[in-house]
Amino acid sequence: MNLQEIYESKVVTAEQAVKKIKSGNRVVTGHACGEPTDVIAAMVANCEEYTNVEIVHMVPMGKAEFANKGMEKHFTHNAIFAGGPTREAIVEGRADFTPCYFSEVPELFKKGYLPVDVAIVQLSPPDKNGNCSFGVSNDYTKPAAKFAKIVIAEINEKMPKTMGDSFINISEIDYIVEVNHPIIELKQPKISEIEKAIGENCASLVEDGSTLQLGIGAIPDAVLLFLKDKKDLGIHSEMISDGVVDLVEAGVITGKNKTLHNGKIVVTFLMGSKRLYDFVDNNPMVEMYSVDYVNNPDIIAQNNKMVCINSAVQIDFMGQVNAECIGQTQISGVGGQVDFVRGANKSKDGIAIMAMPSTACKGKISKIVPILDEGSAVTTGRNDVNYVITEYGIAQLKGKTLKQRARALINIAHPDFRNELIIEFKKRFKCEF
Ligand code: COA
Repeated sequence: MNLQEIYESKVVTAEQAVKKIKSGNRVVTGHACGEPTDVIAAMVANCEEYTNVEIVHMVPMGKAEFANKGMEKHFTHNAIFAGGPTREAIVEGRADFTPCYFSEVPELFKKGYLPVDVAIVQLSPPDKNGNCSFGVSNDYTKPAAKFAKIVIAEINEKMPKTMGDSFINISEIDYIVEVNHPIIELKQPKISEIEKAIGENCASLVEDGSTLQLGIGAIPDAVLLFLKDKKDLGIHSEMISDGVVDLVEAGVITGKNKTLHNGKIVVTFLMGSKRLYDFVDNNPMVEMYSVDYVNNPDIIAQNNKMVCINSAVQIDFMGQVNAECIGQTQISGVGGQVDFVRGANKSKDGIAIMAMPSTACKGKISKIVPILDEGSAVTTGRNDVNYVITEYGIAQLKGKTLKQRARALINIAHPDFRNELIIEFKKRFKCEF
């Protein structure tokens, strides 16, 4: 059979494809903006055929209907990162959460902690050699397909062809479902004055020639606003969004000084608008690799002047960061936070930054606290955390004692909370502030 015949022999409808899933199977699906929505919808519609199918994925951007009330008999959801549609299911017991560094998720499949029965992924159409690109989401999706017993692939005309080690050959796919839906887009966040102040503080630590990792949301976008006068920045990041395109077009991001993958933007997944997806399509400047490579701290550290910027829910007096829980409620996950903090700490002249507003819940709660809320996870430990930034300034923690850390953090807390934090400081450390 030639390539075209091989391709055609594998084409089925979404309804036919999901019949290959059997009760008791573990199904790993693509996630974030690469979520294979048509096959997931067909799987949910076929729920009466299943009992106890485990659905594993990270960032939920679709409806996650398999985690809805009434689906318990058919599906259990195992979240490696919680999000809007799955948080309630975890709280209410219809879903559970597996803590894991993003860089180590592929190992869960490879080493048999979570053997994969079925991988459902979304890909670009094949090139003349039969290779399809993982497009906007390579991360754990490519490894899931590699270790799965059955691979079901949505082939989407609209999926950009991204470069790097981002391909799978049609010979490695079992069932092809042709789709033509738009790629999920991330709404661009509104950037407030507080986030602008945080962004400006972060940008003050970024030297020309640095390589950056930025997360999702308003703070990373605000940082990018203040980098317009920098020179020859590079990107080695878990993900990027539209803001990076502006800085490439402005000639600020060139990657010229990168000590690993010189001249290239290295990422593992993308979340943005069609503008970002058009930018990465067939663009050799952007290389995508799976997450066990991009987020490996030893790989990250090979970038000199690596600057990583992540966020937090709470930070305690010792510098322990909770970035994923509100009390006992799991709201996200560790993601790549610790991977990048450790990579940046090991990088020559690298710096790890935690950037967050000083308050939450419309100013009612301080995010700098004496003790993390009961039940919260410590996402990044006190030995790893270095720079903490709010709209009120910069606290540098490495090399500082417990008292010095607490003082530095209280000095960047919101002024409305500083007095009560100072009272707690005096009680705890038995000394003057
Ligand atoms: N106490 C109570 N609630 C708090 C809180 C606190 N100290 N801090 C935040 N919240 C609430 C907010 O009010 C908000 O609630 P809402 O959704 O009902 O509005 C919610 O938690 C999320 O907070 P927000 O500040 O809007 O979050 P964000 O989008 O800036 O994300 C993290 C912040 C920490 C949750 C996010 O960065 C994360 O998940 N990090 C871990 C993963 C990671 O770092 N990956 C690497 C980069 S991709």
